[in-house]
Amino acid sequence: MGEKERGLGGAALKLMQVEALQDLVHKTREARRKQTLPKYPPHERDTLIRKYHPDFRESAYRPIKFGPNAGDLTVRELACLLEGDSPVPANLDLTPAHSVDVLVIGGGGAGCSAALHAYARGAQVLLATKLRLGDSNTVMAQGGMQVAIADEDSPVQHFLDTLKGGHMKNDHQLLKVMVEEGPSIARWLLGLGVLFDRDSDGNLHVKKGGGSSKPRLLTCSDYTGLELMRVLKDEVLNQKIQLLEFSAAVELLSDGNGTCTGAVFRDLDNNRMFTVAAKAVILATGGIGRLHIQGFPTSNHYGATGDGLTLAYRLGAKLLQIDTFQYHPTGAVYPEQLLGALVTEGIRSEGGQLVNGKGERFVNELDTRDVVSSSIIRECEEGRGVRTATGHLGVWLDTPLLDVEHGAGTLEKHFPAMVRQYKRYKLDITKDPVLIYPTLHYQNGGVQIDVNGESGIKNLFVAGEASGGLHGRNRLMGNSLLDLMVFGKRSGTEAASRVSSMPHGRLTLDHLTRFRAEAKKTGGMGAITSPMLFPDYTRRET
Ligand code: FUM
Repeated sequence: MGEKERGLGGAALKLMQVEALQDLVHKTREARRKQTLPKYPPHERDTLIRKYHPDFRESAYRPIKFGPNAGDLTVRELACLLEGDSPVPANLDLTPAHSVDVLVIGGGGAGCSAALHAYARGAQVLLATKLRLGDSNTVMAQGGMQVAIADEDSPVQHFLDTLKGGHMKNDHQLLKVMVEEGPSIARWLLGLGVLFDRDSDGNLHVKKGGGSSKPRLLTCSDYTGLELMRVLKDEVLNQKIQLLEFSAAVELLSDGNGTCTGAVFRDLDNNRMFTVAAKAVILATGGIGRLHIQGFPTSNHYGATGDGLTLAYRLGAKLLQIDTFQYHPTGAVYPEQLLGALVTEGIRSEGGQLVNGKGERFVNELDTRDVVSSSIIRECEEGRGVRTATGHLGVWLDTPLLDVEHGAGTLEKHFPAMVRQYKRYKLDITKDPVLIYPTLHYQNGGVQIDVNGESGIKNLFVAGEASGGLHGRNRLMGNSLLDLMVFGKRSGTEAASRVSSMPHGRLTLDHLTRFRAEAKKTGGMGAITSPMLFPDYTRRET
């Protein structure tokens, strides 16, 4: 028995079967190497997406029954959450355990950015987070942050690429602000100590991502988000910003007249509820991947259960573009322990080719993500995929090609985290291709905000993935890190500038009483309690 078989024990047979199928990728490499595939022209692209992209599976959608988005279509999983009941009883004692100027909910990149900027402007800030500081999608971001800093690039070009990638459905004002503020955000991060990659002359090195016309990605190897969070977390701790970990927001509070005045939390250590009074609240709760929409695996972290959407919705905030989600083309399929984990687009940016079960390329790997994912789904649905022993379908990402094209050691040098991730399962991606399939990666839409991050509810701000409008119907690689840094900053700054001259508002659950009454009128709330807080992985045998 070889090393791999010993290491994986019972999984050895499955491993050998996948390895046997990999041979075709090796055999066809020479013929594929110099082949160029054009990107899809707009008409064919739209036909492809309509036919294969999960956003267009009608049976996965239904109208929301009540609330600010009543009648709008969204995926069933999200509709159920939005129609769920609050765990907070109407008679909860709302005497606050803490009273602050600015309450930030969420401890990822957007939350830390908001907290730091609000604090820097003199506000008394409390950052509360469901898990530990830094547990978030930000920390898992691999591929980089888009910033137009190269000589041949410009914010205008960044704007146009993003608009094109988003099918022209992006909010122009939000987008303009994001691309224009990119360079100052990069400077701020460098000042804090983020170690972005540099070229041999010591200049910042930028890489090209899918759907972008210019190299624009600032990277820290293939662990950009981890490096960003390292520095942001340190800074929050260094500034001694008041921090509550393992505190999950379960309801927002209002003054009874449509202004947000605080939040109710569940202390996960003892399961008790407590309230925080705040002059302004910033929701930075991240994404929704752990809802496993349409049964997809996800690249998201454990706490990504769309809490912010539910909280803002019950308080009356309008949601935007909640019928569109991003399925990242390259989620791991094998080994099963990695199902859904991100295999960074960076590998395709450096020449990694996608290969179907017949050894053929079938899409330009740097087309936009919705196009690439739709093409992979098409290959699998039409019988040109590769099936694992446990029944998962995928296509190959030819990772060894990078070493063939750019020299031995390239993968190890540019993607050390990815190489290590697979090594833990005795797989060597420098030698063998990996099996991939689209994975639920990002919510394109979210809570509607203005350029300062304020939602339709006064003094309720939303930053990062929980907000919507900026990315249109398909986000480009590297734009989420920039989005959360820019709108974390803007919401923190705006919130802080307001609170000095403002008294605390009343703390009421009036909005919840109204929401429950509306639910009753329109057929009642669903059976579930929301926010969900954690995914339900209970194994049900029947
Ligand atoms: O593929 C990636 O590294 C993902 C990047 C992103 O979603 O921005």
